[in-house]
Amino acid sequence: MTKKTILSGIQPSGRLHIGNYFGAMRQHINMQAEGDTFYFIANYHSLTSLNDGKQLYQNTIDVTLDYLALGLDPKTATFFAQSDVPQVTELSWMLGTLCPVSLMEKGVSYKDKIAAGLKPNIGLFSYPILQAADILIYHSDVVPVGEDQKQNIEIARDLAGKFNRAYDGEYLKLPEEHIVKTVAIVPGIDGRKMSKSYQNTIPIFEEGKKLKKIIMSIQTDSKELEDPKDPDTDNVFALIKLFASKERQAEIADKYRAGGYGYGHAKLELLDLVNEYFGEAREKRKALENDLDYVKDVLREGGKKARTRAESVMEPIREATGIIRSF
Ligand code: ADP
Ligand code: TRP
Repeated sequence: MTKKTILSGIQPSGRLHIGNYFGAMRQHINMQAEGDTFYFIANYHSLTSLNDGKQLYQNTIDVTLDYLALGLDPKTATFFAQSDVPQVTELSWMLGTLCPVSLMEKGVSYKDKIAAGLKPNIGLFSYPILQAADILIYHSDVVPVGEDQKQNIEIARDLAGKFNRAYDGEYLKLPEEHIVKTVAIVPGIDGRKMSKSYQNTIPIFEEGKKLKKIIMSIQTDSKELEDPKDPDTDNVFALIKLFASKERQAEIADKYRAGGYGYGHAKLELLDLVNEYFGEAREKRKALENDLDYVKDVLREGGKKARTRAESVMEPIREATGIIRSF
């Protein structure tokens, strides 16, 4: 049986946080050997919200460092930058010519982003078309993503179908849906969804005093030290649950209910858990920071492999669409 092609992407629009880790990166890393795996940094997508070249470049290197430090093995998974595969933007244009405006108008994440204050540019509007090209250009079978990406995967299936019908052939493969439902939304330090856009994140690779300051500022209710507390409605406990073993969680929950255990205690406990959980990855990241040539090689090699696959899918498409390339 041939291996399934697994693909996912992550935008380099800011420092990655523990919501990104538990909601996406951990699954990507855990699944890396389960098929023919392609993971990429969606840097063209980030242009829809970030117009600072130095920052975007640095974020792209940072995301690569993060993934490698957290256990991505570039010999097992193909890891690359979206921009190293020009066939993606080529296919994206073609898909756009078959995409009804009304399909984009139904886009939930476009509306959410505008509501969150992003400028309504055409790139943001047609974001799902580029995402569809990302998926379809490798004949991806499985796309592990969080619930919030469900609609974009459906759009990719829809556009693949429209393309195949328009040119009367099986040029593009319809991806399966694969929604990862292992964690609930990770709350930020203010209790809303943790998100780069809300400035409420705990970055994965923050440490020392800065990390302590962030964790100590997590919002809680105003119960006194001696009061019994409900772990199930508390943000600090919601975060503790991500890091602690079942036994540890039960012990801490008992302390909450018994009273005489303050939110400050819980926060220090969380700090220890985070430090322990990411300790090894932090050391690995520091070593990699001193070997940026290696990091760039990973991207270069990954890009090469991804391009080869993309070109094999694109060639018959150029022929079918009658697009001439004379070089
Ligand atoms: P952000 O909201 O910080 O900009 P993105 O929208 O770029 O994050 O999300 C990247 C990936 O991380 C997505 O797959 C998304 O499902 C996941 N993710 C982001 N924030 C959270 C969260 N708070 N809880 C769970 N998963 C999240
Ligand atoms: N839109 C995704 C996000 O915000 C990132 C992304 C871009 C992606 N292209 C993709 C995810 C293709 C899966 C497949 O998280």
